[in-house]
This record gives sequence, C-alpha cells and structure tokens, in this order.
Amino acid sequence: MTCGAATVEFGVHTRRPRYPGRNPRAFHDKYKELNPDRYAAEVQKILASGKTPAGMHVPIMIDEVLRCLRPQPGEVAVDCTLGGGGHARAILEGLRPGGRLIGLDVDPLELPRAQAHLRSAGFGPDMFVARHSNFAGIAQALAAEGLATANVVIADLGVSSMQLDNPDRGFSYKGVGPLDMRMNPARGEPASALILRLSEADLADALDENADEPHAAIIARLLKAQPLPTTQAAERAVRVGLGEALPQLAKTDVKMSVRRTFQALRIAVNDEFAVLDALLRSLPHCLASGGRVAILTFHSGEDRRVKKSFQAGQRSGLYADVADDVIRATKDETFANRRASSAKLRWAIRAQY
Ligand SMILES: C[S@@+](CC[C@H](N)C(=O)[O-])C[C@H]1O[C@@H](n2cnc3c(N)ncnc32)[C@H](O)[C@@H]1O
Repeated sequence: MTCGAATVEFGVHTRRPRYPGRNPRAFHDKYKELNPDRYAAEVQKILASGKTPAGMHVPIMIDEVLRCLRPQPGEVAVDCTLGGGGHARAILEGLRPGGRLIGLDVDPLELPRAQAHLRSAGFGPDMFVARHSNFAGIAQALAAEGLATANVVIADLGVSSMQLDNPDRGFSYKGVGPLDMRMNPARGEPASALILRLSEADLADALDENADEPHAAIIARLLKAQPLPTTQAAERAVRVGLGEALPQLAKTDVKMSVRRTFQALRIAVNDEFAVLDALLRSLPHCLASGGRVAILTFHSGEDRRVKKSFQAGQRSGLYADVADDVIRATKDETFANRRASSAKLRWAIRAQY
C-alpha cells in the first residue's frame, strides 16, 4: 500500500513528501487532496476552480439521476457501481426511514474506503451494505441479502477518478505506472499481458469494436512490436508510431487515437461489454413491480447496448416506459466537471406485475 493511500485510509501522520516546485504534481505527493477530511478548505478551493482533487470522484448528474429514480422511504436500492459512494449517498437520503441500499463494486481497494465514507456519513449496516461483487451477479447479490428484487437500481459505468488518478492502477498515462487496467487487480490479466496474448488481428478487432478506432490495424501492429510494461511506454508507442505511419494526421487526431486505444484496452481487460450485457439481461427480473433503473454511460458502445436492451424490454412488455432520448449534463456541470461532458443517462421503469 502506498504512502498516500495509507494516510487516507488510516489517518496516520506521515512526513510531508519532498517534491520540486510549490505544488506537488505526482499523485502520491498530493497529500492534502488525498486527505480531504483534514484539508477540507484546500479541497473545496480545488473543486471551486472546476478541477477534481486527486483521489476524489465527483458524482455525475446527481439531480437528473434522482429525478429518474425517485427513491422513496422504505424502498430497496442497488448501486451497481458504488465507486466513491456519491450517488449512493444521495439515494440513501431518499430511502430514509426504513430503506436499504446494497452497493456493489469489483474494486477491492476502493470498496472499503467507500464503505467507511458512508458509515461516517451516518448510514449504518441496517441501511447500507457494501459487497465486493461484479454487477453481472446482481441477482446473487440481492439473494445474499435475502432479497429477490429492488425498487431502484443505478449503474454509473466505467472507472472512478480514484482509479484513473492513481498511477499504480495503470489506467492512465498521465503518471508512470504498470500497464494494468484491472478494476479488480486480483483477477484476470493486466493489459500488458493481454497485448502479448492476443494476435495482432484480434487486437485490431478489439480496438475497432471497443472504441471504433479508425487506425486499429496500425495501432495493433505498434502495440505488438515491443513489450509495453508501462502506461507511458504504451502511450509513446502509439503516439510516436502513429505519427510516423500517418504523418498527415493532426496531433489532436493522434491524441484521440491514443485515448481510444486506452479505452479499448480497458474494456477488453475488464470484459466490460459482456458484464454490461449480463446486467441488462438480469435487470427486468431484479426490478420490483414499478421499479426504476438509471444507467450512466460514457461512450457509444455502452449507450447502444443500454438503449437496445431498454427498447426491447419495452416492446416485450417488461418495461412500462423507457427514456426516448439520452439525458445530458447541464453546461454548468460540464464546466465544473469535464468528465460529465461525455455522460449519457437513460432510464427505464419496470412494468407492473
Ligand atoms: C464511475 S465509477 C462510479 C462512481 C460512483 N457512482 C460515485 O458516485 O462515486 C464506476 C465504478 O464502478 C466499478 N465497476 C465498473 N464495472 C463494474 C462491474 N462490472 N461490477 C461492479 N463494479 C464495477 C468501478 O470499479 C468503479 O468503482
């Protein structure tokens, strides 16, 4: 466990790290941002400037999500993607008194922090339980709590800012870290191993299917050309290699390709489309009569799946009503939180049965 994370989790006093310049740049040196309870004023200042403090996830479209879900006192809710617990906390407020929320997450490192955060916000075990589980197993997670259905379900797909920011998790090339990308580091294979295992053709297919990457074949060749142990090595291989292979390509287009490559690898490493399909199949059976579900997606591959599943469910009579169109974040929210700009929200209401 890293020094910064240990400080956050256990409140242990550590010597201020040394770093060049006035403000720390490396994730683990940002001790104030990583200790929001102790440095609340500094963290508020960063939030007010439209930035997200390191290690903090700002929940997206909270008001819109609550309008779709309408949590009521005494109801049961499942947060399929607990993350930092921001959406869960807002939903829990609506379930008082007598309601319960089950929070699922595949990430064994962040889950205890989210649980501690919600406990300290006053949600005891009678109202809130955190379960280390993939949302593909939502039915089993409900059964483990002695429940068959929920009135409210939310899924806020993708990765959290905590996962993205921490270079040790290997999701981003902003810091130096292993090319890992596993939301659950105890399962599956890191992205570096996936690249070695897949053939060049399969890798190109993954880039195309997971991120609609127009230069998939070239990038697959670049990724296979040399071992890529770190996120920065992978970023460099794609950025420099693509620039050389297609010198007419604008720098911004190369940057977009690098981003899409990282997105496609992350989706493949965590089998994200297969587990989303499994969740969408289970949902109608896990929702109580009149139950509401809201799903936040961040790219077209996810949104297509949610839209098709909700529309098919409405045609077959499982859903009484579904979103006609996506709901987007307001301009103000997008300005305050850049991540909100790509978010698309869809909802569905389970038919009475
Ligand atoms: C965007 S964050 C959620 C943030 C959360 N709504 C909040 O307000 O803090 C997505 C979270 O979902 C988790 N996750 C992604 N796929 C999952 C899956 N298939 N099953 C369970 N958790 C998953 C990730 O580990 C991450 O913590």
